[in-house]
Amino acid sequence: MIKPSKRSSQLIASPIRKFWPLAVAAKKQGIEVLKLNIGDPDLSLPQEIQKSLRKINLKNLGYAPSAGLIENVDAWRTYYQTFGLNFERENIIPTTGATEGILFSLLTVADPGEEILVFEPLYTNYKALAGLANVILKPITLKLENNFQLPPEGEIIKKISAKTRAIIIINPDNPTGKVWSVKELKTIIKIAKKYNLYIIADETYREIVFTGRPGSILNLAGARERVILLDSVSKRFSIPGMRIGIIASYNKIVMQTILKLAMARLSAPTIGQLLTISALKNSRRYTRKIAAEYRRRSETVQAGLRKIPGVTYNQPAGAFYQVIKLPVAKADDFIRFMLEDFHYQSQTLLVAPMEDFYLTPGLGQQEIRLAYVLESKKLQQAITILKLGLEQYLGQKPK
Ligand SMILES: Cc1ncc(COP(=O)(O)O)c(C=O)c1O
Repeated sequence: MIKPSKRSSQLIASPIRKFWPLAVAAKKQGIEVLKLNIGDPDLSLPQEIQKSLRKINLKNLGYAPSAGLIENVDAWRTYYQTFGLNFERENIIPTTGATEGILFSLLTVADPGEEILVFEPLYTNYKALAGLANVILKPITLKLENNFQLPPEGEIIKKISAKTRAIIIINPDNPTGKVWSVKELKTIIKIAKKYNLYIIADETYREIVFTGRPGSILNLAGARERVILLDSVSKRFSIPGMRIGIIASYNKIVMQTILKLAMARLSAPTIGQLLTISALKNSRRYTRKIAAEYRRRSETVQAGLRKIPGVTYNQPAGAFYQVIKLPVAKADDFIRFMLEDFHYQSQTLLVAPMEDFYLTPGLGQQEIRLAYVLESKKLQQAITILKLGLEQYLGQKPK
């Protein structure tokens, strides 16, 4: 038999999507499944994009230049100016979502077998993409119990070896909702400087912060030459289907390398680049509204969780996710139970198990992640279902 490559065989199925068949089966039985497993926003897209969509009238649809449509690159430049960042055109290349930017950045900073530091729990696609790039991710564990604070500097430095090339920061973070403090970011920059590491900064959720002003790690001294910035329109404009992001850096050699990768994949979506121009130039009007909405949703979830005995949870400061540690041995089994054996008023719940968000084996087995992708009333209902489901699960006799 012909076998697929080891590289592809080692890929794990997305933990966010793996219970989907059970949700489909529950639906067939007439049960409404409240889906809080995927960070796929339910909010309406910005008016500017709706308008641009209505105006589309193309006779042909060609590739965009590999370095991006100038109009789109310039729209991103205008966008970044509102955060005090001035980029030249050659500092920014549009990508097919931040996802392509993740792959490009890994391929740019590390050779096969080299290492990159990450903080776990970690947005799972980094694991899959590092696997494709044959790059080794070295985890530094953040803990739910202390709201995922940065551990002492020594613990980070311990993980650095002669093979370490970069450190990845996701800010605000998926799956924790952590917003990195300036002090924490300065520590990262200091370490990166001392050990000559790149910083891959994924700021996909930049504006979704519940207090204070959004910013970028690039606003801090010492970041300029070593930061590779990843960004996306997916979450900030509630349009993950647009598949548009960018990779940006002030480092010339990095951008020359990225351009070669961009040429190899020809072009980021032309339509997406065209449709996002006006929203990028006018971003704050929309992002202020959605940040307030996600904050309200987070408050609803936290208020509900306070009423569930035995759960531990962090306090997100941004993005739209919540990590919850359940009083169960394996969250996977509980999620399965909710889909196969439990419903309340003909509704049940689909959430993401956290185990695969960790790299260290055994961590996160009791944890789940919720995405705030339903309006507050439904979220309130979802937390009630979680509470009742948990009571029944814990009360049932072991099989
Ligand atoms: C931290 C982070 N980076 C990147 C992505 C992927 O973004 P895109 O849709 O732009 O590929 C996600 C999606 O959930 C994410 O949470």
